[in-house]
Amino acid sequence: MKQITRAADLQSAVKQAKEQNLEIGLVPTMGALHEGHLSLIERALKENDMVVVSLFVNPIQFNNKEDLEKYPRTIDADLKLIESLIARIECRAKELLAFTPSVEEMYPQGEPKEVYHFGPIEEVMEGPRRPGHFSGVAVVVRRLFDLAQPKRAYFGEKDYQQIAVIRSLLEQIKYPIELVPCPIVRADDGLALSSRNMRLSPAARAMAPAINATLEQAAEMAEYEEVDDVKEWVLDTLASYHEVNDCPDGLRFEPEYFEIVDAVTLQPIAEWANAEQNGAVGCIAVWLDGVRLIDIVKF
Ligand code: PAJ
Repeated sequence: MKQITRAADLQSAVKQAKEQNLEIGLVPTMGALHEGHLSLIERALKENDMVVVSLFVNPIQFNNKEDLEKYPRTIDADLKLIESLIARIECRAKELLAFTPSVEEMYPQGEPKEVYHFGPIEEVMEGPRRPGHFSGVAVVVRRLFDLAQPKRAYFGEKDYQQIAVIRSLLEQIKYPIELVPCPIVRADDGLALSSRNMRLSPAARAMAPAINATLEQAAEMAEYEEVDDVKEWVLDTLASYHEVNDCPDGLRFEPEYFEIVDAVTLQPIAEWANAEQNGAVGCIAVWLDGVRLIDIVKF
């Protein structure tokens, strides 16, 4: 593993790799790595000759200043995790570049002016609740595509809408990059791994698996209930969880949304039959203990 902080150094390493016809895999992250990120890196190491992992907390995708400030920054521990992953798996890749630029290095001209639009994909769920977020993601991901020139780029299905946004970005900019969606990695109790989980108090962390458990039950209900009934049941079950269960410290779930959408267009469906072609996905955002958690379930 080699750490690179300068864009120019990344570009020259990529140029050399391209001259040898090496296939490059890119894994964009914001650091604070956990097993979810590592599963993407592992897959990239197995499918490519060289892997670029970026670790960059991208300020322009945060629409909440406090969230940006609180975002964990643990580069040294992250690099150690990557090293230990490389030591424990069989890889095709001969080299891993960990790209850890500063904000100034990534945006030398100051805050980028470019704005991306994604139409109906960004008009649902995270889109209206996090104005500018997806455009900020697209700006940084495009910059990373330009620098790393990957054949494949790896993204997690935990951020389901982000994958649809990147698919649309690739269509817009016409880059021949293969988008590789990767399944969610969960803790043993079912909670989707997230850098934000470390901000949960122990009591809240103990409650959090109820999100996935509720979604799994919803997937079973989907076999005999209508879409709207499943939606309502999920929202009610989580919103009233503290009334039915013993939750300490006044803890409660506050669902922000739960939508059942077409797996590709991300448009809400009214009937299961409407998603026959692409499949249906349930996407949820829930507040717990001041932390916003997201998760998905495939129907
Ligand atoms: P970040 O939240 O660090 O996530 C980096 C990648 O790891 C994303 O593709 C995300 O979906 C994936 N990931 C996170 N938790 C996961 C889990 N439990 N299982 C599987 N994959 C998981 O997403 C971002 O960063 C940023 O928006 C980024 C794309 C890097 C642009 O700044």
